[in-house]
Amino acid sequence: MNTTYDRNHIGDRPLTSKGEIYKENILDHYREPHHFGEMSNADLKHREFNPLCGDEITIYLKIEKNKVSDISFSGHGCAISQAAMSMLTDMVKGKSIHTIEQLQKEDILKMLGIPVGIVRMKCALLGLKTLHKCLAQIST
Ligand code: FES
Repeated sequence: MNTTYDRNHIGDRPLTSKGEIYKENILDHYREPHHFGEMSNADLKHREFNPLCGDEITIYLKIEKNKVSDISFSGHGCAISQAAMSMLTDMVKGKSIHTIEQLQKEDILKMLGIPVGIVRMKCALLGLKTLHKCLAQIST
């Protein structure tokens, strides 16, 4: 895992004290991502790649009774993309496929809790895009 990060480049605007707490949370997830690693017995797997920067995420899912019973991810990338993916694994584990399919950009921004400008938006949404494409394998 890439362990380099720049504390001053999380988010695009100056942060309030509440924003600082969110920023620390993002850095914690980046340094120690939750559910990180490959899953050998996954029911579904999907890899997405951001060609602009070379960052990538692969998601592994176990599905039981139309719910995500387990999730993990591997890959590398910037603090926002990796932290958002880590936080997303916590958010969706145990949730129904239908609920996860309804998640949108706004849900991810609320989860991150910091202002994300247009330049970093692809980073913030890479995990959600990967997750939705992974689930699309069984929804289509
Ligand atoms: Fe590549 Fe953020 S810089 S996803």
